[in-house]
Amino acid sequence: MRQGELDVGDVGQIARTGAVPPGQDIDAVVAAAHARALRHSQGAVADYIPVLAEADPELFGLCVVDVDGGVHAEGDTGALFSIQSISKAFVYALLCDALGHEEVFDVVGVNNTGAAFNSVVAIELNGGHPGNPMVNAGAIATTALLPGDSAEARWEGIRAGLSRFAGRELEIDEEVYRSETLTNQRNRAIGQLLESYGRIRSDPAEAVDVYTRQCSLLVDARDLAVMGATLADGGVNPVTGERVVSADVCRDTLAVLAASGLYERSGEWLFEIGLPGKSGVAGGLVTVAPGKAGIAAYAPRLDSAGNSVRGQIATAYLSRALGFNIFASDSHYSRGDLA
Ligand code: DON
Repeated sequence: MRQGELDVGDVGQIARTGAVPPGQDIDAVVAAAHARALRHSQGAVADYIPVLAEADPELFGLCVVDVDGGVHAEGDTGALFSIQSISKAFVYALLCDALGHEEVFDVVGVNNTGAAFNSVVAIELNGGHPGNPMVNAGAIATTALLPGDSAEARWEGIRAGLSRFAGRELEIDEEVYRSETLTNQRNRAIGQLLESYGRIRSDPAEAVDVYTRQCSLLVDARDLAVMGATLADGGVNPVTGERVVSADVCRDTLAVLAASGLYERSGEWLFEIGLPGKSGVAGGLVTVAPGKAGIAAYAPRLDSAGNSVRGQIATAYLSRALGFNIFASDSHYSRGDLA
C-alpha cells in the first residue's frame, strides 16, 4: 500500500497530538530526570572510532525545547560532541524534502533490519537493499542521493541544512573526521557492496566521505533539542521561526525513526518510551514528541547497541512525567467528553 494509492487529498493530514500538559513545571521535571539518570553509570564509551574513547564518561546534559521555543536545560548542555548517527535523521529529512516520499521509499526503504547499525549481513539478506536510512548502509545511500553536482556541494547542503535545524552555523570536528576516516574501512566496504548491487547513486568512496563528515558535525544537547523540536513542530524551527522542511517530511521522518531510530532496540525503545528517537555513538540521543517538544541528552556511556544509557533513562522519565507517549490514551467516556 503506497501513499499515491490512497488519494484522500488533505483530509486528516494534520496530526493533532495535544500540547504539553498545562501547569507543568518543565524545568523541575527535566532536573528530576537528570538527577535520576545521573545515578546510573552502566555502559561504555565508544572506542571503535579512536578519538571518541577520549570523551569524559561523566558528562551528562539534558534539554527539552518546546514548540513555543522554551528551553529547559540541566547539566552539561553546552558540552560539544560529534552528532554521529543522529545526523542520519536530519539528512534523511533534507533528502525527502528534495526528492519526495516515493523515490526515497523505493531506494532507501523504511523497514527495520533487526541487525546492528553497521551490519553487512543485513544488506546481503535483503538482496543488496540498505533497508532503512538509519543504519549505515541506508545513510550512505541517502547521502549519495542528495542533490548537488559534486561531493563538496552535497556536503555544503548537509552542513547548511543541519545548521538550519539547529538555528546556528554548525562546524565539523576535524579531529573526529580524521580519526573516523582512518578507521572506516567497514563503511567503505558497505559503500562498495551497495555499488555492486546498483544501490548507490554516486561514487561510493565520495558518499562515504561526505557521510563521515556529516557524522563529525559538532553539536551540544541544546542544539539537538532545537533540531528535535523542529521535527516536532511540523518543520519550523521554534527558536528561529524558519521553516526548514515541510510538515509531510517531518511525519515521514518520525515514522522511520519510530521503526529504526534505535536500531535493533527500536521495539524496546518504543515500548518503554513511546516516541520516535535517534541515537549516536558519541552519546547523543534526540527524541521527538510530535506537536509538543524535542528532547536531547548527551551522556557518552552506551549500551551494546550503541545507545546512550543515561540518555535512555532520562528520556523514559520525561516521556512518562510529561505525558508524551504517543500510544497512551484515556477513554473519552472517563474524561466526560460525552454527554
Ligand atoms: O558510521 C559510523 O559508524 C559512525 N560515524 C556513526 C555510528 C553511530 O552513531 C551509531 N549510533 N549509535
